[in-house]
Amino acid sequence: MEEILDIEKRNQTGIRGFILLGLGIFPELQPLLSGFFLLIYLITITGNLLILLLIVADQHLHTPMYLFLANLTCLDTCYSTNILLKMLANLLTGERTITVSECIAQYHFFSLCTGTETYLLAAMSYDRYLAICRPLLYASIMNKKFCFQLMAVTWLNSLICNAIPVALVAQLSFCGSNVIDHYFCDFHPLEKLSCTDTSLLEIITFFLSFVFVIPPFLLTLISYICIIGTIIKIKSTFGRQKAFSTCSSHLMVVCLYYGTIIVVYVLPDSPTLTHLNKIFSIFYTVMTPLVNPLIYTLRNKEIHKATRQLYGKMVILARSHPKPPISSPFIR
Ligand SMILES: *[C@@H]1O[C@H](CO)[C@@H](O)[C@H](O)[C@H]1NC(C)=O
Repeated sequence: MEEILDIEKRNQTGIRGFILLGLGIFPELQPLLSGFFLLIYLITITGNLLILLLIVADQHLHTPMYLFLANLTCLDTCYSTNILLKMLANLLTGERTITVSECIAQYHFFSLCTGTETYLLAAMSYDRYLAICRPLLYASIMNKKFCFQLMAVTWLNSLICNAIPVALVAQLSFCGSNVIDHYFCDFHPLEKLSCTDTSLLEIITFFLSFVFVIPPFLLTLISYICIIGTIIKIKSTFGRQKAFSTCSSHLMVVCLYYGTIIVVYVLPDSPTLTHLNKIFSIFYTVMTPLVNPLIYTLRNKEIHKATRQLYGKMVILARSHPKPPISSPFIR
């Protein structure tokens, strides 16, 4: 009886919120760091939404490659908002708390977005592989129906597979320390603070991170190897150089993304890695959503053309609606 009372009391006084320690680097440079991340957040959001607008507004860009890119911009906007907005709020206000439910929601969205992003990047590289290495088959494989199925699988797969670990995480109880040594609610820091047995959860999440990372990574890598192999055979040096530099920048970002995720989630957690993991996670939570819109559009002629056209349309629209004359009760 006494024991039950004790448990009840502990639950009542149990942890209501966590303290996010943040990055923990350069505490004396906090204002500079806030400004830096605010700038990154604004560029990420504007860049991604601008590309989404361009693709949606231009009928010529309604091809598989650009529709996938539109999906990626939506995903990256969510990704960045979920992680960076809370981090910024904490940096700017100096308030470091986050409630338990907020924390679990953040983890949920994060794992949802990561699972979708890996498969989406794989789908995009497969699309490029078909277009460059199998151009004759491209139109017959990448039809509307297949694209739609590919995207549906990408989004639903992550939603369904994440349901189990998220339900289990939601049932964890926390007692003792409530300090999270990280800048967002990630799985490992949360799991360490829990006083429930997490062995089943650990096995499931390890299995899932394996499924969500290794197959799409291999598919992406093989696609790019084939693409680069084809490009090298191109006769004209100019075309070759341009295609090669575009491809290698994609490949670099993709490798950085998967590489850091593999180190953080697939490799076993060790004390030396725990510290590095915080730095590594900057790459996949902050950098990837920032550079994705840049690398997929910077050297892209069609996007440049669409930008000029949209700008032209907006100028015409602005001219055809001159400012209404000022109506004032004193001027009749
Ligand atoms: C995502 O991709 C699908 C399939 O190509 C497409 O129908 C859909 O419009 C895309 N979503 C966005 C927001 O562009």
